[in-house]
Amino acid sequence: MHQLGGRKCSFLFCLGVVACSIIYWLSRTSTTSSKPTLAGIEKRENYCQNGKQINRLALPKNVGSYIQSTNLQCSNLTKELHFINTTLSREEENYPLAFIVTIHKELDIFVRMLRAIYMPQNVYCIHVDAKAPKEYHEAVQKLVSCFGNVFLSSRSEKVTYAGFSRLQADLNCMTDLIASPIAWRKVINLCGQDFPTMSNLELVQYMQSTGWRDKNMTPGVKQPATMKHRTRFQHHEIVGSHVAPRVPRHTKPPPPHNLKIYFGTAYYALTRDFVNFVLKNQIAHDFLEWSKDTFSPDEHYFVTLNHIKEAPGNHIDGGWEGAIRAIKWRDQEGKTHDGCKGHYVRDICVYGIEDIPWIIEKKSMFANKFEINTFPEALDCLEQWHRNKVLKQATVPINPSWLLWSHNNSINF
Ligand SMILES: *[C@@H]1O[C@H](CO)[C@@H](O)[C@H](O)[C@H]1NC(C)=O
Ligand SMILES: *[C@@H]1O[C@H](CO)[C@@H](O)[C@H](O)[C@H]1NC(C)=O
Ligand SMILES: *[C@@H]1O[C@H](CO)[C@@H](O)[C@H](O)[C@H]1NC(C)=O
Repeated sequence: MHQLGGRKCSFLFCLGVVACSIIYWLSRTSTTSSKPTLAGIEKRENYCQNGKQINRLALPKNVGSYIQSTNLQCSNLTKELHFINTTLSREEENYPLAFIVTIHKELDIFVRMLRAIYMPQNVYCIHVDAKAPKEYHEAVQKLVSCFGNVFLSSRSEKVTYAGFSRLQADLNCMTDLIASPIAWRKVINLCGQDFPTMSNLELVQYMQSTGWRDKNMTPGVKQPATMKHRTRFQHHEIVGSHVAPRVPRHTKPPPPHNLKIYFGTAYYALTRDFVNFVLKNQIAHDFLEWSKDTFSPDEHYFVTLNHIKEAPGNHIDGGWEGAIRAIKWRDQEGKTHDGCKGHYVRDICVYGIEDIPWIIEKKSMFANKFEINTFPEALDCLEQWHRNKVLKQATVPINPSWLLWSHNNSINF
């Protein structure tokens, strides 16, 4: 009894803290010049601040069947899904970004992430896992067919966790993006459980900030001893399942060209010149071949190449810097964060609503991970906060269809 009461109390206390933090952050990002078309935003913000019952916002109940509806027209789809269809500033127009998004499930999160990162001047390559169900492929295909600057990768891999196929998926998209007529400046990769925390304008400014202008961002360090087994021994991919060391053990030859292996995250922001280098240079090519039977080559390939003098935009002395992802790792509890308010899956936090203030405070480009089935309100609130920020930064008139809620404060759909 007592314990239960205590928990309830601390829960309410937490809600209070969350509400205050969100109000604080919202007030920090709001500008004094409020635009008339933004009427209603404040009301909507209260909705999240109360931390109470949050309804799903602005998406049809079943996104898949909505998108698949036979007579649905693209003009209706982009409007009803609240996509922004105008470039919001000259600064963003002059610095188009490319995105690689690899997905295999959770169509809802993908649609919400895409509408958060979508801008008409950018270009988006979507890699759908070849193992994904046919209906999933078809829904994504139909969605992307409504945009001239969003496309499915021309080759699709059966992606295995920690396998070479994961890296190959990115490379497939890079090949397609290099052929795109859009003059993108940097490419950023994402997975289906990411959500942006920076606006497109903030991404553009971050990419050009001191230290990153014309540089690749590949957070990582010299391969630690605990990771050596990944590249010392041969592995093989059990397609669609997992990656295992070969039995009996086969030691690999050292990496080609005397490369020193680095280890980092699989997420990056790369210059166009670097992507050309990856696709065409002999060192990059030989290193890719050598990486085919290693464990999780996506976590060493780009970061290693970014530490050699031949690579354009390299960061030879670089370490972990680069605010690519806000992630709560279980083993960082008490160090970089105060625990996961959602739950851990594979030692990574799936965010709950009370994690949102921490995410916002981190000021990373993206946050990972979200699930709609377990903690829908976390994504609802971050999504609203993000869209508000985007609209408040816009230098063009706001189209009412860009709001994620209706003016009379009722939930759309
Ligand atoms: C598209 O939207 C318009 C109103 O905005 C509506 O009249 C029309 O029936 C819609 N078309 C389809 C195919 O849903
Ligand atoms: C953007 O979408 C809105 C709503 O569908 C439409 O009225 C407007 O003409 C579109 N703007 C452009 C530039 O396509
Ligand atoms: C708000 O607008 C929606 C349509 O956008 C409508 O269905 C609903 O009845 C309105 N609610 C109120 C309280 O006016």
